Amino acid sequence: MKSPLVTALAVISVVSASAVDYTKEIKPILTQKCYACHAVSKGKEKGDVALDTPEKLAEVIKPGGHIIPGDPAKSTLLISCKLPDDDDDVMPPKGKNRLTETEIKTLETWIQEGASLTAGGSASAPAAAAPAMAPSEGAVQSWTSNDGKIIQATFMGLQGDGVLLKMAANGETFLVPLSRLSPESQAQAKAGK
Ligand code: HEC
Repeated sequence: MKSPLVTALAVISVVSASAVDYTKEIKPILTQKCYACHAVSKGKEKGDVALDTPEKLAEVIKPGGHIIPGDPAKSTLLISCKLPDDDDDVMPPKGKNRLTETEIKTLETWIQEGASLTAGGSASAPAAAAPAMAPSEGAVQSWTSNDGKIIQATFMGLQGDGVLLKMAANGETFLVPLSRLSPESQAQAKAGK
């Protein structure tokens, strides 16, 4: 039997656990092909872009950023990886160590699915993403959707124009669009609680 909380959750969440897993599928690509010039850990932030820390990724993954969640066609990071070898803006530069077709496709799918850093893997294994988020975990709070449904969840971070909430009912983390929350809950999310 489904609990009311889980039912409420199904109503307000449009993006559930995605198919592409950031840690397993995206991070290795960025590590091999981009970190040499775009990683805080290497002291390199070419073009003011670093792709290795959550804080830096948050500057990249947002509306108007180089990765626009849900919109691969407008995501300049992906576009620059697809340019011809001799294009001035191609990434990595000069067509060296380019992404393979498969890597581009994976990146594209991940962006399409919302470019989540946590909601990867199959829907049956969301728990695997949870431990990585543990350090920033706060208290369980009430969140209200814009149609009045209430859920109990922990704030896990803002991402694009969504908020990552870990549901108290089942421990799963979901990206909930801010527009689906009541004004009070939106303020709560923006205050970072
Ligand atoms: C050899 C170094 C190098 C590597 C490797 C590299 N980049 Fe860059 N990247 C640069 C430089 C230099 C710039 C700044 C270019 C400029 O400002 O004209 C840049 C800029 C960017 C920008 C910002 C572009 C803009 O419009 O401002 C993005 C996004 C980017 N890189 C993504 C990537 C991605 C994704 C990878 C891996 C697939 C990658 N880069 C690999 C050197 C590199």
